[in-house]
This record gives sequence, structure tokens and C-alpha cells, in this order.
Amino acid sequence: MTNADLIAAALAVRDHAYAPYSNYPVGAALLAASGRVYTGCNVESASFGATVCAERAAIVKAISEGDRQFEAIAVVTHDGGAPCGICRQLMLEFSPTMVVLIADTRGNVRSACLRDLLPDGFALEHGQK
Ligand code: THU
Repeated sequence: MTNADLIAAALAVRDHAYAPYSNYPVGAALLAASGRVYTGCNVESASFGATVCAERAAIVKAISEGDRQFEAIAVVTHDGGAPCGICRQLMLEFSPTMVVLIADTRGNVRSACLRDLLPDGFALEHGQK
């Protein structure tokens, strides 16, 4: 699975986005250490706060299938938007050093380490007594 393959998977699943309120479809493709790829799109709600981001849709699919270690995630939007803070926090839980590929629909890609995108994120040990 190359970076280009992962981005292509994110671009394809973006077609399934349900985004009638924002008109901002997002596609994500998550590569697990097992080699499996989990895709996700954003799913909006008339109750706006119930909206689920593409990245979290992919993560929830993966965890529920038994994968918890991730190598990379590709996120595609029309303008190269980066993952939101909530998604960064949820990804940090499982694979803080995973690669985050942020792409737009014109083929521009930037790459970052998740830990650099969420420095000083909340960690498991912080919640222990
Ligand atoms: N969105 C994502 O899917 N991922 C992000 O990381 C940022 C935002 C979605 C949520 C909403 O459906 C739309 O983009 C506009 O905020």
C-alpha cells in the first residue's frame, strides 16, 4: 500500500460523504499495521453536534474490527483541510507516531507525524489516579 494508494482510497470514499449542511465532503483512509485499510467519510446530522468526522468514522471501523495499531491515515478534501483536534486526540490514543497525509483534490499532499500535529495531547496516564 503506497501513500498514493491510500490517498486514492480516501478520495474514492469521499464520494460517500453525507455533508448536506457544510457541503464539505471529507474522505479518510486508515492503514493498519495488519495491512488492512479502513475508509471513512463525514456523516452530518440536522443536529449539528452529532456530526461524525471522516477520520473518526475510519478509526471506529478499525477498532471494531480488531485493529488498534496504525501506520498512516490519508485525508482528502477539496482544499487540503487538516484533521480537527478531536480526531487528532482519538488517533493519538492508538498510534501517536502515525503518518498523517493531508491531500486536496488537485493532487497536493503534505505529510506530518501525528504527534507533531497534537503536541502535549491528553494521554492515558494523565487520567490515572
Ligand atoms: N470534518 C471531517 O470530516 N474531518 C475533520 O477533521 C474536520 C471536519 C467534517 C465535519 C463536517 O461534516 C465538515 O467536515 C465541516 O466541518
